[in-house]
Amino acid sequence: MAKMWAGRTDGKTEKIADDFNSSIRFDSRMYREDITGSMAHAAMLSYKGIISQTDADTLITGLEQILADIDAGVLPIDMECEDIHMFVEQVLTQRLGDVGKKLHTARSRNDQVALDIRMYLRSQIDEISDLTKAVIAAVTAKAEAYKAAIMPGYTHLQRAQPITFGHHLMAYAMMLLRDLERLADCRKRMNRSPIGCCALAGTTYDTDRRFEAQKLGFDGICRNSLDGVSDRDFCAEMLSGLSILMMHLSRFSEEIILWSSWEFKFIELSDAFTTGSSIMPQKKNPDMAELVRGKTGRVYGDLMGLLTTLKGLPLAYNKDMQEDKESIFDAVDTVKMCLQVFAPMIDTLTANTANMKKAAQRGFINATDLADYLVKKGMPFRTAYKISGSLVAYCIQNDTVLEDLPLEKYLEYSDLFDDELYEAIDLMVCVEKRISEGGTSVASVEAQIDYVKEMLA
Ligand code: ARG
Repeated sequence: MAKMWAGRTDGKTEKIADDFNSSIRFDSRMYREDITGSMAHAAMLSYKGIISQTDADTLITGLEQILADIDAGVLPIDMECEDIHMFVEQVLTQRLGDVGKKLHTARSRNDQVALDIRMYLRSQIDEISDLTKAVIAAVTAKAEAYKAAIMPGYTHLQRAQPITFGHHLMAYAMMLLRDLERLADCRKRMNRSPIGCCALAGTTYDTDRRFEAQKLGFDGICRNSLDGVSDRDFCAEMLSGLSILMMHLSRFSEEIILWSSWEFKFIELSDAFTTGSSIMPQKKNPDMAELVRGKTGRVYGDLMGLLTTLKGLPLAYNKDMQEDKESIFDAVDTVKMCLQVFAPMIDTLTANTANMKKAAQRGFINATDLADYLVKKGMPFRTAYKISGSLVAYCIQNDTVLEDLPLEKYLEYSDLFDDELYEAIDLMVCVEKRISEGGTSVASVEAQIDYVKEMLA
């Protein structure tokens, strides 16, 4: 098929070369951005007197019609075209004749594609941010419901100190808030317009790049034309933000998987977010959480793929850069799906607070509080630590717990002990005493919840 760029060559290429070269399979999803960008370009061309007002009006109406037709499904995108930019221009020219051919004045596909991706991705950042907010809201609501539910807090996956399930959940809300900030920050740098950089060197026409940038909702322009067409930092940055977001979802998923195992039985996922086994009738598998954890690897792969594609590229545009889209689109689609399934999965899970409490009662997680109790009676912490440890060892040897040891036993270890020790090692008391900011007391978790709600509002 002869190409729109036929001239220097006869434009007749092998089918296999066309298939290899073409990007329309994946860049057609940017048709709206491409057409909106072209409308702003036509407006700028007439504003600067480069084309007539009548021509600009014709072009803009023609572009509007193409957009409406694609939206309505009456203009199928021709997969034989090289890319979405060529497709739109081709249809426009078929419909408008010579006027259609004026649109590509003072621009190149190099700045056009850079424009389209930025516009597309910034709207994707907005969508992903909204989906992330929905997850944060679900997590925060669960935390509120379980702000007084005692569970063991872990370090090294060993029972460490008593915390509440609400406190644990709020840790994820904080992580996801940072993800929102990272995406917002990335969006700021992304929101500069490359249109008008043209092929690489700018243009001899008297254009107004800022007019176009402003029309398209950008905060400014790329200030070096070579950089404008060859910069894909915003893709790498977004992929990196998405990778970190997925890392958070993956850690969360891992805990959900652990917690729903028979060994833990801390939570129960709603049936609607689990699957059964084709052979083992007793199974209720946390597939959604496992898939989120699995897909994290895929998003990291998208990031590594793009960084590697970019690392050896000379300035300015190189066709290698067409590879940016599949990786960033894959990551965008993957992250959106994960967030969409995550929010209702969290929303519908229930905690088995009795089991959490039982686990909290068997791990000597109040041993620190026992030591603190002696410290408050005047003993140096290291000595108190040692006594508390010896008492734990005694309990393990005798298959009992600190709460069940009689006072006489305690007095064998130190005469500072009295009846109040039982209150000091009561798990709820241990939790409620941790009033330091960010700590696990109910009041402190409530403050965290308020903070997150304020950030979301
Ligand atoms: N499909 C191309 C891409 O995605 C558009 C830019 C092509 N520019 C060019 N000079 N061949 O990168």
